[in-house]
Amino acid sequence: RTVKLFDAVDSTQNIAQRLAEEGAPEGTLVIAEQQTNGRGRMGRNWISPPGKGVWMSLILRPSLPLQFAPQLTLLAAVALCRALKELAPLDIGIKWPNDLLVGGKKISGILLESSAEDERIRYVVAGIGISVNLTEDDYPEALRDTATSLRIELGNELDRTEIIAAFIRHFQQLYTLYQQEGFSPIQSLWEALSVTLNKPVKLLTPAGQVEGTPIGLSESGALIVRKPDGAQTLVFSAESSGP
Ligand code: BTN
Repeated sequence: RTVKLFDAVDSTQNIAQRLAEEGAPEGTLVIAEQQTNGRGRMGRNWISPPGKGVWMSLILRPSLPLQFAPQLTLLAAVALCRALKELAPLDIGIKWPNDLLVGGKKISGILLESSAEDERIRYVVAGIGISVNLTEDDYPEALRDTATSLRIELGNELDRTEIIAAFIRHFQQLYTLYQQEGFSPIQSLWEALSVTLNKPVKLLTPAGQVEGTPIGLSESGALIVRKPDGAQTLVFSAESSGP
């Protein structure tokens, strides 16, 4: 596998996308010590100080219709959750679709960006940010209630290389399972690690607010939400707006 290591980049997503456009094969991994313009979902920025976290992007070239791309995000979240649980004795859960939380605070996020042609995936770049050794001072005041790091939760530092190696191992195992058996085994694993299911939420979706209780994942990776009137609705993307 090709691993490209950088000191400082704007975003590993940009580097990986450029490499993918130039024909880089599936499995190519771009890792940076620091990102000056790391990005998160929903146009947010991602704090990526030098040497303190895992900031990486993985190029994938699955032969899939574009509509299945969200399944890969969920797969990556399961792989990451398994890797981190293996290395840190913490209660880590997945908040839909792909945030990893410890005690309700975020320690990791995944951003999947895809390029498609005729509704089929050309490549996807799975961006993974893991807040490993950040301290409270690394976070702006406004984020301290909602974001944390493995170091803050554990009280000690972790080796970033071991985390990357464990993630790649788990990802590879699950990606093979996915290619052989489809999404359903991944879906069960995701549901078992989820902290989102069966708890009432208010979700801010592009189509407006949805209130209800998430009861599972659909085949496409959307969240199935049961509304107070009993009707079910699918949510493909959202922010939570409260408990
Ligand atoms: C989120 O939770 O909003 C997703 C965060 C994704 C951050 C990672 S860090 C490596 C890669 N490069 C980026 O610019 N973003 C992703």
